[in-house]
Amino acid sequence: MTEILAPGPEGLARGAALLAEGRLVAFPTETVYGLGGDARNSAAVAAIYAAKGRPSFNPLIAHVPDLAAAERIAVFSDRARDLAARFWPGPLTLVLPLRPEAGISDLVTAGLDTLAVRVPAHPVAQGLLRAFGGPVAAPSANPSGRISPTTAAHVIEGLGNRIAAVVEDGPCQVGVESTILSLDPPMLLRPGGVAVEDLEALLGPLPTGGNAAKPNAPGQLTSHYAPGAAVRLGAATRQPDEIWIGFGDTPGADLNLSPAGDPTEAAQHLFAALRAADRMAAERGLSRIAVAPVPETGLGRAVNDRLRRAAAPR
Ligand code: TXA
Ligand code: MG
Repeated sequence: MTEILAPGPEGLARGAALLAEGRLVAFPTETVYGLGGDARNSAAVAAIYAAKGRPSFNPLIAHVPDLAAAERIAVFSDRARDLAARFWPGPLTLVLPLRPEAGISDLVTAGLDTLAVRVPAHPVAQGLLRAFGGPVAAPSANPSGRISPTTAAHVIEGLGNRIAAVVEDGPCQVGVESTILSLDPPMLLRPGGVAVEDLEALLGPLPTGGNAAKPNAPGQLTSHYAPGAAVRLGAATRQPDEIWIGFGDTPGADLNLSPAGDPTEAAQHLFAALRAADRMAAERGLSRIAVAPVPETGLGRAVNDRLRRAAAPR
């Protein structure tokens, strides 16, 4: 049975003790719930891959409570420190040269000489990381290829009984995963919870690429975030066989990502809306989900990235 832990000191102490034993503990971050394991313990990291059914060549993000802890596992340039000062704690992941002496498992980096590092802002994530006292590898706490979890109930639904515990603390505020940036030269590997515009204000125009980004042509996208029903994007109206997820002024939509047309709010609601639409489709015997267009500005960039993957061929 997966233990449900309360977000207070006792629950966090229990979570930290389980992590120290090499067990897996899911916990809320401001982006999505993560599936945590000791990043220095290869058996624990292997268990993360096994619980998710994730291909093991896809590297993981190491989570730490602050810049000082991050500097113990990765090498920071002046630019990396500036970005950390501006965006940490928060939904930005930096890909930096790994400190080999830090003892991070090869399974976290998938053998690369770089490490993805993140300092989450969520108080429960902060509390768990401080109670544990070491780096925690944590992908999103969902079966590989499925919709990321933004509540503890989503985690239990997907991974119940495959993990030791989940710390429960309500829905995630940001709702999409962190923005991933590599440096020297700066490159956007994944749009996410920090708006690309805010990074570009500091760094100038950001090329996209690297192994966390996929080409935007639909046929080349890796299927991910996939609901059971097929997904159609840019839907200004619904077809009879569809559940329609609206955005802004979309009268008659079954659900709405943001009635006010705010991409930040759309990000917050995205994954729960995909789950709800999937349930509605199953109840009504429909096989498709249509999604209204969302602008590519602010967090809309991350929303559209996730939607394109949800719609990609499986
Ligand atoms: O918001 C988030 O980032 C969430 C929460 C739990 O913190 N975590 C998350 O992890 O989204 P995950 O494992 O689902 O995504 C990690 C991404 C993958 O796309 C992986 O390819 C990329 O980070 N990545 C990890 N290490 C990398 C590296 N050294 N170089 C390039 N990409 C890397
Ligand atoms: Mg994920």
